[in-house]
Amino acid sequence: MSLCSKSCSNSMRSSKLKTATFVSVAIGIYYLLSLSGHRSIIEGQLGILSTSEGDSNGDGFNREYLLAPEVQYTPKIAWLMSFPNSGTSFTMSLVGRASNRSFATNYADEVTPRDISSASLNIYHHRHDGPFWPGMSGKILSPRPLPESFVITKTHCGSRCMYCGPEVYVVTADDFLSSCSSGHARIANKTEAVDVHYPPERVASAIHLIRDPFTNIISRFHQRRKNQEDKNLTEWLSQHPNNSTGFQRWCKELDNQYRQEDIEYFGLEHVPKAPCHGEFFKYAQWHSLVEDALDLISHPVPVLTVYYEDYASKLEETTETILNFLDLDLVGRIKVFKAKTEVSEYFTAEQKDSIKEFIRDVASSAAWAHIQHYF
Ligand SMILES: *[C@@H]1O[C@H](CO)[C@@H](O)[C@H](O)[C@H]1NC(C)=O
Ligand SMILES: *[C@@H]1O[C@H](CO)[C@@H](O)[C@H](O)[C@H]1NC(C)=O
Ligand SMILES: *[C@@H]1O[C@H](CO)[C@@H](O)[C@H](O)[C@H]1NC(C)=O
Ligand SMILES: *[C@@H]1O[C@H](CO)[C@@H](O)[C@H](O)[C@H]1NC(C)=O
Ligand SMILES: *[C@@H]1O[C@H](CO)[C@@H](O)[C@H](O)[C@H]1NC(C)=O
Repeated sequence: MSLCSKSCSNSMRSSKLKTATFVSVAIGIYYLLSLSGHRSIIEGQLGILSTSEGDSNGDGFNREYLLAPEVQYTPKIAWLMSFPNSGTSFTMSLVGRASNRSFATNYADEVTPRDISSASLNIYHHRHDGPFWPGMSGKILSPRPLPESFVITKTHCGSRCMYCGPEVYVVTADDFLSSCSSGHARIANKTEAVDVHYPPERVASAIHLIRDPFTNIISRFHQRRKNQEDKNLTEWLSQHPNNSTGFQRWCKELDNQYRQEDIEYFGLEHVPKAPCHGEFFKYAQWHSLVEDALDLISHPVPVLTVYYEDYASKLEETTETILNFLDLDLVGRIKVFKAKTEVSEYFTAEQKDSIKEFIRDVASSAAWAHIQHYF
């Protein structure tokens, strides 16, 4: 079995490069037009909101647009790329507290006050497409200014749906990259969030967070239980207790639910035996696509790989490494890491073996090098 990202990345790469060139040329033209006062012509195409925020002279001309592109995009975006439930929130708040600087996210809901009249705040305030930050109001998080150089920015990228089959979760590096710079905004007095997307070219560097696949997927089960608890689905909850019995049942249901799609994708003879194999496929593919996707960006994107377990074994050192990478100083306190209970007894030895084989088949060699120590 091989992922499209490995076999067909060359043709995608060249088309992506053309897109990237087009985008930077377009931004350049936009910059020139803005100098000559013609910005409105292509404003719509670039998705830039008209705003009076920067119009301090009251002459209808926003001087923000006179800034050169490199000044407009300060601080630079440093993606925190993580598969859901692998320590994202801990990492964000660790960095926030230690540096006393704000973080950002592609998902405005996480940093926007719940009241309907609040709109999301972009880190670049002449933009509406994100990323977003909590601002200095203190309404939702301790007020912290944005960093000067790099802002750690949460993205879960794509192919992480829990209830989906291979038709949906198997994606190309191109799709994956596009989802890494997608998210949603909040508009004042609108109940619906608005989907937004910024050019991935805006990303300067990335942190790739990796967690043990077994605890990661079990943690997704916990997440699922929590969501069902919030909805008061007591019957579902009693059928899926918070232990290995409930977990194995959940895996079996997922495996059965997508069996038809599995047969079409893998072939009748080759439907994977590993429990929760859809989840483990997504995990392996996700970590493989991180590198492939960043390679599609036309400038080099330095990557720092962080292992979740390092928070337990060497928290200080790991924090310092992350802060150095982000060009931040340690001025606050290092958040205490509370290791979750060990849950490896959720799988039999035989199941663990089949999961290992499966992940090794799906993962790129680069990704396997990052995750093989978990087996
Ligand atoms: C949102 O609604 C409130 C209350 O009706 C109003 O005061 C406020 O100006 C509105 N905000 C926007 C941006 O429309
Ligand atoms: C389930 O149990 C784990 C520990 O085994 C715990 O961390 C988690 O919070 C529990 N919660 C839910 C919602 O299932
Ligand atoms: C869930 O059930 C509890 C007790 O049965 C009740 O107090 C609560 O309001 C319910 N919540 C929702 C969201 O329905
Ligand atoms: C899990 O919890 C359920 C309900 O409390 C119980 O019936 C089952 O025996 C438990 N399974 C294990 C392996 O402890
Ligand atoms: C963090 O920043 C805030 C706002 O700039 C400031 O009031 C506070 O004293 C700072 N705290 C530390 C520990 O540096």
